[in-house]
Amino acid sequence: MSQRALFLDYLAQTSDAPLMLEIKSAEGIYLKGRDGKKYIDLISGIGVSNVGHRHPHVLRAIRKQLKSYLHVMVYGEYVQSPQVNLAKRLVATLPESLDNVYLVNSGTEAIEGALKLAKRFTGRTEMISCFNAYHGSTHGALSMNGSEYFKNAYRPLLPDIKHIRFNEINDLENITQKTACVLIETVQGEAGVRVPTKEYLQKLRQKCTETGTLLILDEIQAGFGRTGKFWAFEHFGIVPDILVCAKGMGGGMPIGAFISSKKIMSVLTHNPVLGHITTFGGHPVSCAASLATIRIILRQKLHEKVAEKEQLFREMLIHPRIKEIRSLGLMMALQFENFSEVKSIIDKAISYGVITDWFLYCDSALRIAPPLTINKNQIRDVCGILLKAMSKK
Ligand SMILES: Cc1ncc(COP(=O)(O)O)c(C=O)c1O
Repeated sequence: MSQRALFLDYLAQTSDAPLMLEIKSAEGIYLKGRDGKKYIDLISGIGVSNVGHRHPHVLRAIRKQLKSYLHVMVYGEYVQSPQVNLAKRLVATLPESLDNVYLVNSGTEAIEGALKLAKRFTGRTEMISCFNAYHGSTHGALSMNGSEYFKNAYRPLLPDIKHIRFNEINDLENITQKTACVLIETVQGEAGVRVPTKEYLQKLRQKCTETGTLLILDEIQAGFGRTGKFWAFEHFGIVPDILVCAKGMGGGMPIGAFISSKKIMSVLTHNPVLGHITTFGGHPVSCAASLATIRIILRQKLHEKVAEKEQLFREMLIHPRIKEIRSLGLMMALQFENFSEVKSIIDKAISYGVITDWFLYCDSALRIAPPLTINKNQIRDVCGILLKAMSKK
């Protein structure tokens, strides 16, 4: 039986139409198919490979850690230097108040930890998130998501959750002294890249401070240089009470974190003790890969080169079928008329060797989120291919 047949037979499927590319290897911005065909990964699989696939420094860090130890103990007991070094380096990228890191396995687990922390610290139960938000697929994160379509089949979900409109200042009056937290993506991803105004995020910050509500920023997609700053919130002149990251954090390895102040985080140690437990959270190999990833981004100043790459995409991607381009750095959405238009462009682009995608809640837009390492010639090539795909009916 072929690998494709075995894939369909043995692996749980999540849709009736998986992409089914059979990958042989990956390097930099490229994926290579089993058939020898080379693809440019324009979505970083998805939003993960900010430093490119198999970056040599990430591989070196992984190999080095393999020589010492793999898993040795559940999170929070032993002193594991890959965790310690990563947490110290992460904190150095952040404002003073974000000085304590809880390492987990994934984005959705980091969201779960952040929500629990906010409820436990404030003693409140009400939580607020946005319509069209995507925060993950476990029950807590799913409850906070802003799409009825994806939630309905799994009710009952968490109680006491309200949704507000993203980037709508009037809706901030829903935040009161009953609200434990507001969870919000600094830039909405799966809604099709929605960039809020500085005024909105600053008013949100202010309202949270006034009501004693914790502001949780989800930078699982927007963090690690993707938007042109190391952290997306740096564009907006605000600091969250809890920051959540994952995806690009691991350079291709699974890891996530929720980050807060020592004062807030300390509630996880008592009443009850072990406020969040994870066996594999902060796996030493993932931590080593993550530390290498931070160093690559900062030493090569990858985030500082993002704005000019974004600009080049914008200059090149001019076509009557593109209705609008929404972006912050290399987190971009090309808006088209409808899904069938996007689908046919994506299918053609893939046949020409460029992998792209639509968005979970916005299937009329095409996703561009390449590795930050993509160079200008590669951007020109990719744009040429996308324009060709748009021009063929
Ligand atoms: C903004 C955002 N939050 C949370 C998640 C969930 O992360 P994970 O898939 O690692 O659980 C995602 C994943 O796409 C995301 O884009």
